[in-house]
Amino acid sequence: MRLVVAKDYDDMSRKAANIIAAQILLKPNSVLGLATGSTPIGTYSQLVEKYQAGDLDFSQITTVNLDEYRGLSPEDDQSYQYFMNYHLFSKVNLPSENHFLPDGTNTNSEAECERYKNVIHSQGGVDLQLLGLGHNGHIGFNEPSDTFVKDVHLVDLTERTIEANKRFFASADDVPKQAYTMGIGTIFQAKTILLVVSGAEKMEALDKVMNGPISPQVPGSILQLHSNVIVVADEAAAAWRLK
Ligand code: F6R
Repeated sequence: MRLVVAKDYDDMSRKAANIIAAQILLKPNSVLGLATGSTPIGTYSQLVEKYQAGDLDFSQITTVNLDEYRGLSPEDDQSYQYFMNYHLFSKVNLPSENHFLPDGTNTNSEAECERYKNVIHSQGGVDLQLLGLGHNGHIGFNEPSDTFVKDVHLVDLTERTIEANKRFFASADDVPKQAYTMGIGTIFQAKTILLVVSGAEKMEALDKVMNGPISPQVPGSILQLHSNVIVVADEAAAAWRLK
C-alpha cells in the first residue's frame, strides 16, 4: 500500500482528484468505481472544477458505485443515487446510461445482488475504485464480521455505522438498516484502489487497515494484499506514524 500524506482535507481532495484525473486522461474509457459519504465530496468537486476548466472529459467514462441503502428510491435525497447526481453526475458530461448503482427499491435482494454483480461484470472490470473508510474499518458496507463476503450482497448495517450516518437523517431511526454493497472480492478486482481518509477520528481505523493483522473484523485490512492500493490520508488521519 502506498501512503500519500496530505496537509488537510482540501489537499487530500486535490491529490485524490489528480489521481482520478490522470486515470481518465490515460484511459478515457475507464470504468471508475465510486464511493459516497463525506470524504469524497471534495474530490468530486475538484473533478467538477477540472471538467469545467476543460481539462477532463467524462463522455466515455463508466461508473459503478459501491453501495446503496435498501429501501430508498433514487429520488430520495438520502439515497446514494441522489448523492452522486448532486455531487458529480449532473455536473459533468458523463452519459446517464453510463452510471450504475445498486437499485435500493428492489426488495428481492437475491435478484438485485445478481443483477448488480452482472452489471459490474459486463463493464469488463473496474480500472480505479475510490473508497472511503468507516470508523470500524469498513469499506463499502462490508462491516466487521467473521468472514469476508466476496460478491455483491445485502448487509445489516452495524449500530456504529447507523450512528455515524445519522448525521444525514432526521434521526438514527430514519437511517435504513440494510444496504446493498459490492463484496470484498468485487472491490479487489479493481486494478487500482484509491482510499481517501480524513480526520483524527479515522486514525485508529487507518492504522489497523495499514498495519494491523488482516482480519474480517477490520474489513479494510484485506487491502494489504492488493497489489495496487494508494491511500491518500490527511495528516490527522495518518498521525499514527508519529505515535
Ligand atoms: C460509501 C461507503 C462507505 C463510506 C464510509 C466512510 O459509499 O461505501 O464505506 O466510504 O462509511 O464514510 P464517510 O466518508 O462519510 O466518513
